[in-house]
Amino acid sequence: MDHPTQVLLVRKIFSLLDQGSTSLADAPFLNPVSVYHCAHQLALEQAGLFGAYPLLMGLSACLDHPGAYLTDDLSGVPIVIIRAADGTLNAFINVCRHRGARLVEGQGTLKNALTCPYHGWMYNLQGQLVQLMPAGSFSGLTCAERNLRSLPVFERHGLIWVAREPGQAGSAQRPLTTLDTEMAHLRLENFSLYETRLLEKPFNWKNALETFFENWHFPFLHQKTVASIFLPAVSHFEAFGNDARLIMPRRSILTLRDQPPEQWNLLKHSLVIYFLFPNTLLLWQRDHLEIWRVFPKPQTPGACLAQVALYTPHAATTERERDLWDKNMKLLLETVDGEDFEVSTKIQQGIASGAQTHLTFGRNEPALQHFHRVIQQALTDQRMGLSESVR
Ligand code: FES
Ligand SMILES: [Fe+2]
Repeated sequence: MDHPTQVLLVRKIFSLLDQGSTSLADAPFLNPVSVYHCAHQLALEQAGLFGAYPLLMGLSACLDHPGAYLTDDLSGVPIVIIRAADGTLNAFINVCRHRGARLVEGQGTLKNALTCPYHGWMYNLQGQLVQLMPAGSFSGLTCAERNLRSLPVFERHGLIWVAREPGQAGSAQRPLTTLDTEMAHLRLENFSLYETRLLEKPFNWKNALETFFENWHFPFLHQKTVASIFLPAVSHFEAFGNDARLIMPRRSILTLRDQPPEQWNLLKHSLVIYFLFPNTLLLWQRDHLEIWRVFPKPQTPGACLAQVALYTPHAATTERERDLWDKNMKLLLETVDGEDFEVSTKIQQGIASGAQTHLTFGRNEPALQHFHRVIQQALTDQRMGLSESVR
């Protein structure tokens, strides 16, 4: 985020504070509870969201040298991404073309080939089968017919995106929105991965993201954790196409009132949450970064897989630095897993109870409204056969 934008946003936040207000939607919004527990809805989302749009896999730091590879199964398709010698990325379905064994696990470095652990078929880092073996057993076939299935992969401003289906037409190019320019200013390509955690939770994947989309629950739910850090009930929301930015000011932002605008630093005095459609949140936490990626558990509308990754401005090398980032990870898990996700678990049970047909989002919850509107629009576009490139 450039400095003029930061100044503009600090002014907007001060104006909201002066009015005792927050960013508001035009009207309340009723969201049908069926979208959280209906198997048909999940099937539509798998096809129209997860199967139709590129998904964030992580930051460039996860693949920071030639031969580095990363696997990811969370989308339901086993994916492997590999950094080639020329610095570009290739992505493949992580499945051997002989009898379908998983080729590699976890992450690490490949010398110059992927070798199947089952019968030793070998693929080069471009996914080409090197030799059909044993000789004479696969007559009539050529290596080229058994190359790995390529997936569209796209790296920009330190963010790595992969489309989980080989034929996802045009989807590897995310549109260049205003938010794209803002991403460039964050210099995400310089960040280093500190730690990731995977949480399997008993609620719908959208419910996991929703807990980040407003902060007026902080004084109620987060008394023991983060409530004292943030100003209550004020946030600034802005949509950028399907993506969005939500700013939750820290109490320390008030000190900027005594400083000239040239010295204002919004990023130091607020939590900036970027929603990257369809299932990712990037949280700018003053001196580090958290990325949440949330996926439905296959065929289970009432369960999700939520992965959080903590990234730091440079690799932690000292005990003191590790101690600091460990404390941050602890606080984040206490707050989100220990408090927010406990409520989400009960919400999912409440949804199934039949107590109500809709959840109610207030005017003061514009990010929640945006999230559900763009999902519904994408599913409608999918039904009408419109491609992602026209949104
Ligand atoms: S399944 Fe990979 S070599 Fe047989
Ligand atoms: Fe929360």
